[in-house]
Amino acid sequence: MAPSADASRRDFLKVATGAAVAAAAVATKASAQEKPLVGCGKTTGDAKRVGIATIGLGGQGNGDTKAMLKVPGVELVAVADCYDGRLKRAKEVYCDNLVTTRDYKEILARKDVDAVIIATPDHWHSRIAIEAMNAGKDVYVEKPMVHDVLEGLQVVDAQKKTGRILQVGSQRVSSVVYHKAKELLAAGAIGELNMVEAFWNRNSAIGAWQYTIPPDASPQTMDWERFLGPAPKRPFDPVRFFRWRNYDDYGTGVAGDLFVHLFTGIHFITGSMGPTRVFSTGGLRYWKDGRDAPDVLLGLFDYPKTAAHPEFTLTLRVNFAAGAGGEDAFRFVGPEGIMSLGRDGITITKRDPDKEPGYTIDTFPKAIQDAYLAEYHKKYPEQKGQLRTGHEERYQPPPDYNETEAHTANFVEAVRTRTPVIEDSVFGLRAAGPALLCNVSQREKRPVSWNPETMRQVESAT
Ligand SMILES: NC(=O)c1ccc[n+]([C@@H]2O[C@H](COP(=O)([O-])OP(=O)(O)OC[C@H]3O[C@@H](n4cnc5c(N)ncnc54)[C@H](O)[C@@H]3O)[C@@H](O)[C@H]2O)c1
Repeated sequence: MAPSADASRRDFLKVATGAAVAAAAVATKASAQEKPLVGCGKTTGDAKRVGIATIGLGGQGNGDTKAMLKVPGVELVAVADCYDGRLKRAKEVYCDNLVTTRDYKEILARKDVDAVIIATPDHWHSRIAIEAMNAGKDVYVEKPMVHDVLEGLQVVDAQKKTGRILQVGSQRVSSVVYHKAKELLAAGAIGELNMVEAFWNRNSAIGAWQYTIPPDASPQTMDWERFLGPAPKRPFDPVRFFRWRNYDDYGTGVAGDLFVHLFTGIHFITGSMGPTRVFSTGGLRYWKDGRDAPDVLLGLFDYPKTAAHPEFTLTLRVNFAAGAGGEDAFRFVGPEGIMSLGRDGITITKRDPDKEPGYTIDTFPKAIQDAYLAEYHKKYPEQKGQLRTGHEERYQPPPDYNETEAHTANFVEAVRTRTPVIEDSVFGLRAAGPALLCNVSQREKRPVSWNPETMRQVESAT
């Protein structure tokens, strides 16, 4: 039997210190679903039907669709994709009578579709999201919400004008781990935040986005012109189609692909709207396969003091040719501890308060050392010279916990109840903005200023 939300919350606390903490109830709901995939005219239970369609059914489109189908009452109606092999696969995975098309506009015209998942390459996100909202659909759009910062306010305006639900698919805001981290930070678990740091080290072809090109890739099996869409015209090229992340015309580099998740997590945990200054550097060092995107990228970001958080600095880096690879870290740093977030939950490494200040007297004359020590031991009689002690606290979600299921469940709940989501178009632009400005800074070799309130790039960087 599926665990209840309360059971999930208790599991989450198993390795905690015993403090009474409440993880986000809404986020635990999704992991409780263990229903078979449902689509093509069938829905589960009595829940109000929500008809969905997926536009872009590659890796993430399938992940999002499967997660959303775990919510009772959700029915998959149709999918759109520009490679016929993925449409064929959709019928194999979901059901034979699924509506499949190369043209997403056919999906937007359907009355039986309430909401769309947009999991195309980045250069299509804002365009399809705006068209979908104007067609009366709610939207679950993958990160980064936009390909270029300048598209962001158009999405925000369209959401405001149409009143549709739009949720960006960076699932961390719905994760019990991130809700717990937010609560721990606010409770002073590491003292006053002064820095956040994260890195990914990878070293494999797949890790560096050299995805498999199917042997039947051809102008007959692929809709090359529709894939290009708003991007510059080019002759047919299956490498660009299947490895689009590597090219600026369609992807947004490691900043738009990976940093954006970190901005989402940081903004959620700290309550921040974003940094005011972005500096990024790096280059293409190893994967010289004709790609545009750097495989080594570092970013530095200034977060000014606000009512929500103190001033802090953020450092991010990615290396796609880093030794053995396979390492990553995401740490919130304060004077009293470090909070590390990983796939297995949260670890807080604490420094206990100093019991004595210590001394550096070796270079003083012997008589002065002796006199100093005599006074010191009078003042700190119990101490044995151990300046600092520390300990660790760990918080783990339940073993089967899936944050994408939590995030898609939040979306469906919002579609049904018309209540706003946290990761709406404004949140999405505040996460995408600094990530995309990394690419500007790296290309132009200069710091770039950003106004997180107005969500606009500020021309004169200081
Ligand atoms: N939230 C996450 O953790 C996460 C993880 C991976 C990817 N993503 C995001 O999901 C999106 C898709 O990434 P992916 O790895 O699944 O890519 P992918 O290449 O596997 O899939 C993209 C699909 O979109 C299709 N497509 C392209 N143009 C289209 C159009 N105009 N209409 C319909 N379909 C179109 C392609 O044919 C392809 O099948 C990206 O924006 C990526 O950043 C998010």
